[in-house]
Amino acid sequence: MKNIIIFGAPGSGKGTYSDEIVTRYGMGHISTGDVLRGEIKQGSDIGKMAKELIDKGQLIPDDLMIQILAKTYDSLPQGCGVIFDGFPRTIAQAEALKLMLQERGHDMGVMVELIVDEDTLMERLLRRAQIEGRADDNVETIKKRFEVYHNQTEPLAAWFEKEGIRHTFTWEGSKDQMLANIFAFLDTLK
Ligand code: AP5
Ligand code: MG
Repeated sequence: MKNIIIFGAPGSGKGTYSDEIVTRYGMGHISTGDVLRGEIKQGSDIGKMAKELIDKGQLIPDDLMIQILAKTYDSLPQGCGVIFDGFPRTIAQAEALKLMLQERGHDMGVMVELIVDEDTLMERLLRRAQIEGRADDNVETIKKRFEVYHNQTEPLAAWFEKEGIRHTFTWEGSKDQMLANIFAFLDTLK
């Protein structure tokens, strides 16, 4: 499978649909949020720095994120495609991803954008807070994450549009339908 960049607001389902895509197509998966939460759990220097920013709903600096991404990408088996979940989140990260892949003779593949209304997003994240207790799933931090998404990440959609690889999927109330639409598209790429 080609590389896939899964893109969308907090709670839009990047992690959920990535798991389904990995099961169906057997590819690699990099969730930069999961990588950072792993660093926090280990108590590493990166983790300590990341925790402060994640708890405030802010982004980790681009330079550090780009280094982490390249290291994680190189640690995965090559040739079966990778889903990038939560990266890129800024134009600088997108340019760096494109270059990193070019340097390795690979390309970005396709971008899958998940569009979900904000009330649904908030509901999902507050429900997850009760189940998983993620530190950034509280009303105040979720609102900050939405604001950061609108200001810094959403403008990237136009960047992908220019690259000619943007494909949008809009939530209409059914997870099965959303998944069927995504699979119908991805099946055409195999
Ligand atoms: P990250 O971990 O990427 O969090 P996020 O973008 O806020 O997104 P979430 O993981 O909360 O949601 P999701 O879209 O994966 O949805 P999910 O499938 O879980 O990043 C966290 C932080 O790390 C950032 O704020 C930043 O500080 C830092 N960071 C990470 N990457 C960075 C980068 N590149 N640069 C700088 N900083 C970075 O679904 C949400 C919930 O909804 C789940 O519980 C799911 O089960 C439920 N759900 C219910 N119904 C559905 C449905 N129909 N479809 C999908 N999910 C559903
Ligand atoms: Mg996630």
